[in-house]
Amino acid sequence: DETRRVTERLRADAQGIARAAELLRQGRLVALPTETVYGLAADATSGEAVAGIYGAKERPSFNPLIAHLPDLAAARRQGLFDANALALAKAFWPGPLTLVVPVSGGCEVSELARAGLGSVALRVPAHPVARAILQAADRPIAAPSANRSGRVSATSAAHVLEDLDGRIDAVVDAGPTEVGVESTIVACLDGAPRLLRPGGVPRSAIEGVIGRPLVLAGEAGMAPISPGLLASHYAPSAGVRLDAQAPRPGEAWLGFGPEPHGAVPGNPALNLSATGDLAEAAANLFGHLRALDALGPAMIAVAAIPMQGLGEAINDRLRRAAAPR
Ligand code: TXA
Ligand code: MG
Repeated sequence: DETRRVTERLRADAQGIARAAELLRQGRLVALPTETVYGLAADATSGEAVAGIYGAKERPSFNPLIAHLPDLAAARRQGLFDANALALAKAFWPGPLTLVVPVSGGCEVSELARAGLGSVALRVPAHPVARAILQAADRPIAAPSANRSGRVSATSAAHVLEDLDGRIDAVVDAGPTEVGVESTIVACLDGAPRLLRPGGVPRSAIEGVIGRPLVLAGEAGMAPISPGLLASHYAPSAGVRLDAQAPRPGEAWLGFGPEPHGAVPGNPALNLSATGDLAEAAANLFGHLRALDALGPAMIAVAAIPMQGLGEAINDRLRRAAAPR
């Protein structure tokens, strides 16, 4: 296979950061940590580099990618910010928020990364290693989650290598990610901001800044929702049964909160957060799904997760994991 290559393991120190930036400037593929999940990064201004992302992930179609920038000033050179976009950027950047805005006249993000759209998805991540690499690379960096298409997102360098070893040029290992679910995506295109994907910034926090309820993407009269928001996504090999009271015989169990009944003896079981902490549950979500899936159960039963705060993003990812394939 001509796309086969040796994947360099880089430490998250000054040397590793410099090497990652050098590779990105050469148009190569580097998995790097963000505070949400690991991203599979490439030079967003190079159509060829971006095409490499789709190849490594085996993305079936050219979904648009998020361009990552080191700060708001750099982001404003790529896209046009209305008052809502500016307020949201100032409130949540750097952090787990992506803004979809109209492209600026000087937008350098390649057509391929934008999938030919007149809008561009921009994010300023908070992870210090990501920010250092972005600064050193000195150009917009496209980065979808560093998993093979359709699989559970990667929240550690080991998860990245499970899916992409030999398909990418390097991975920067900075340990497990803190937030654990992807960024919240808000489109600010025509006045009323729309929620395209729930994520690391809770809906209530966004609504607090814009001063009104977020319009839901996909409602009547709305433009097509984010192309990446396919029903089946983040899918383990096992089936997924949601809002379960307890595991049935043969099912692996993914719990949440205190569990008086306990797991079925002999069946694998993990708990997203024994204390019912939604931030802890988000951080554990993809790793626990991968760990249970690796044991080969036919079904993973998942406890009900409340919809408050990060619960909306967790339930969104679980619904996709459970969707018919
Ligand atoms: O936390 C995150 O956002 C991670 C880290 C690595 O930053 N990235 C991530 O990227 O989740 P990805 O490619 O898995 O998801 C990007 C989403 C897709 O659903 C895509 O359809 C949507 O963003 N998107 C990108 N550009 C868009 C645009 N112009 N209009 C609408 N949706 C867009
Ligand atoms: Mg993804």
